[in-house]
Amino acid sequence: MAEQQEGTGAGGGEGPRHVAIIMDGNGRWAQARGRPRLFGHHAGAKRVREIVEACPDLGVKYLTIFAFSTENWKRTQKEVAGLMSLFRRYIQKEAEDLFRRGVRVRFIGDRVRLEPKLVDLMDELELLTAGNDRVHLTIALNYGGRDEVARAARRMAQDVEAGRLKARDVNEETLPRYLDTCVLPDPDLVIRTSGEARISNFLLWQSAYAEYEFIDTLWPDFTAEVFARVVARYGRRERRFGAVLGE
Ligand code: FPP
Repeated sequence: MAEQQEGTGAGGGEGPRHVAIIMDGNGRWAQARGRPRLFGHHAGAKRVREIVEACPDLGVKYLTIFAFSTENWKRTQKEVAGLMSLFRRYIQKEAEDLFRRGVRVRFIGDRVRLEPKLVDLMDELELLTAGNDRVHLTIALNYGGRDEVARAARRMAQDVEAGRLKARDVNEETLPRYLDTCVLPDPDLVIRTSGEARISNFLLWQSAYAEYEFIDTLWPDFTAEVFARVVARYGRRERRFGAVLGE
């Protein structure tokens, strides 16, 4: 771990520094047009570019998006294969552009179950953009919050067994260093599109004090304007982190 975890972002009048998004509704968007679900995922992928591009003007330094969950393997083989192919093509097609636009890309989630060709592309993109700092885009792929905490706990147990960590030092400060997100600040705002009010195993540990926005817009309709409106609402909220204001 080269970098230290940074503190929770601003709040209380300022915009969110880290926004996390559950991009939901691609299937319904396609269905409404009488098209296959993958058509919706392709439309959703196009939206990602616009939202990443909107971040700097909105003061959003970190954007984390939920692309594929540990539960998504339960979808039909055709949809899973289509999504994996979409991720491969997205990385190949967007890599150069992401690099030029100063985006640093990271992936979180368990790579073990992903096909080697995709993992290679993910590694290459992380390496290519490692020197960038304009926007930090984190893509959650085969990600589940419980799975992430369980993997972290396993690695901590291994470190305890090997004498590198003392059991009494397992606490709220040390555990996050073992999470996939160890170099990222906690999200300030979590947005879920498509009208579902669930967090679906996304950033469970990290979102303990996040604000949530559940909005009706389906992900392929989530424009930069909608994003700007949701971010502006955040600025009007007060975050107390469990404390009493004014003390
Ligand atoms: C949820 O919609 C969306 C997904 C499971 C996939 C998210 C993927 C993308 C937006 C594609 C591109 C992402 C990248 C990083 C290239 P859903 O299928 O659950 O929609 P539904 O609830 O309407 O069925």
